[in-house]
Amino acid sequence: MRVLITGGAGFIGANFVHQTVADYPDARVTVLDKLTYAGNPASLADVTDRVALVEGDIADADVVDPLVRDSDVVVHFAAESHNDNSLNDPSPFVTTNLIGTFTLLEAVRRHGVRYHHISTDEVYGDLELDDPAKFTEQTPYNPSSPYSSTKAGSDLLVRAWVRSFGVEATISNCSNNYGPYQHIEKFIPRQITNLIDGVRPKLYGAGQNVRDWIHVRDHNTAVWRIIEQGRTGETYLIGADGEKNNKEVVELILELMGHDPHDYEHVADRPGHDLRYAIDNTRLREELGWEPQFKDFRSGLEDTIAWYRDNESWWRPQKAAVEAKYAAQGQ
Ligand code: NAD
Ligand code: DAU
Repeated sequence: MRVLITGGAGFIGANFVHQTVADYPDARVTVLDKLTYAGNPASLADVTDRVALVEGDIADADVVDPLVRDSDVVVHFAAESHNDNSLNDPSPFVTTNLIGTFTLLEAVRRHGVRYHHISTDEVYGDLELDDPAKFTEQTPYNPSSPYSSTKAGSDLLVRAWVRSFGVEATISNCSNNYGPYQHIEKFIPRQITNLIDGVRPKLYGAGQNVRDWIHVRDHNTAVWRIIEQGRTGETYLIGADGEKNNKEVVELILELMGHDPHDYEHVADRPGHDLRYAIDNTRLREELGWEPQFKDFRSGLEDTIAWYRDNESWWRPQKAAVEAKYAAQGQ
C-alpha cells in the first residue's frame, strides 16, 4: 500500500506517520509538506528509513500530480491550523486550506485515488456552555474564524467532488488534540513550555471556554479505521468525551508540574472566541467499532508534559518568537 500523507511534518500528521510505520510494516509512506513554521523534519527523524519526505506545496499542481498518481491512498492533514494566526493574516489559510484541497481533489479525481480528508469540529461553530447538545454529523455548518471557515469550505469541496465526480473520499471532523510534537503556539504545549521557563500560564479571558480533548493517537486510530471501513462520501465525527474548560486544564498542568494550581494569569481574550465544542461520537463507535484508548486525561497530560521536558531541543528554537508574537497582541 502506497500512502501519501500531506502535512506529515506537523503535529497530527507526524504522529500519524509514526503510527502508520509501526502498524503497517508493508506500507510505502510518502510525506508531502511545505515545511512552514509549523512543519518540522525533526518530528520524522527516527523514521527516515521508512518515509520519503518531499518538501512542496499542496497548492502546486505540478508537485501534487505525480505524487498522487503514484499513491493508493491520500491522507490530507496539511493546513494552516491556528485560529489566532488566521485572525492576524487569513491569506495563507485561504491558499492552503481551500486552493490546496482543491488541487489535491483534482489530482485524486484524475488518477482515481482513495482520499481521506482531515477536518475539524470547528466547522460547526460553537455551543452554549450550558447546552446539553453535542455536534453530530447532521449539525449545520456555522464556522466563526477565518481558519474554521476555510476548513468548512474545504469540506464542502470534498462533498461536491464526491457527488459530482464520484471521487472516493471520506471526511473526519475531530475535536482538540493533545500529545507529542504539537507546536508550542497551541494552548497545552504553550503552558507546559511557559512553566519550564518559569513563566505563568496565560488564560484567554475568564478561561470558561470548553474544548473536547482527545489524545492524538486516538484521533489517528480513528482515521485509519475510517480509511479501511468507512463508507465513501460519509463524514465521521471523532471525539473521546473529553470536555474540559480551559481553567481546569491550566490548573491540572500547574498541579502536575508541581506548582500552585491557581498561579496563572488572565490575558486578552481571542476575538470571536468559540465558547464550547463537544462531539457526539456515536456513529464512529457504532458503525466502525472504534473506541478511544487514552481515557484518562490526567495520565495523557502527564506523558505529554514528560515529552516536552525530554525534548526541549525540538521546541526551544521557536519559543522566543512565539512568545514575542503573543506579547504584541496582549496575550
Ligand atoms: P500543524 O499546524 O501542526 O501542521 C500542519 C502541517 O501542514 C505542517 O507540517 C505544515 O508545514 C504543513 N503545511 C502547511 N501548509 C502547507 C502547504 N501549503 N503545503 C504542504 N504542507 C503544508 O497542524 P495539526 O494540528 O497537525 O493539524 C493537522 C490537520 O488536522 C489540519 O487539517 C487541522 O485542520 C486538523 N485538525 C487539527 C486539530 C488539532 O487539535 N490540532 C483537531 C482537528 C483537526
Ligand atoms: O477543535 C479543533 C481545533 O482545535 C483544531 O481545528 C485547530 O487546528 C486547533 O488549533 C484547535 O483550535 P483551538 O483554537 O481550540 O486551540 P488552541 O490550542 O489555540 O486553544 C485552545 C483553547 O485555549 C481556546 O479556547 C483558546 C485558549 N487559549 C489558547 C492559548 C494559545 C488560552 O486560553 N491561552 C493560550 O495561550
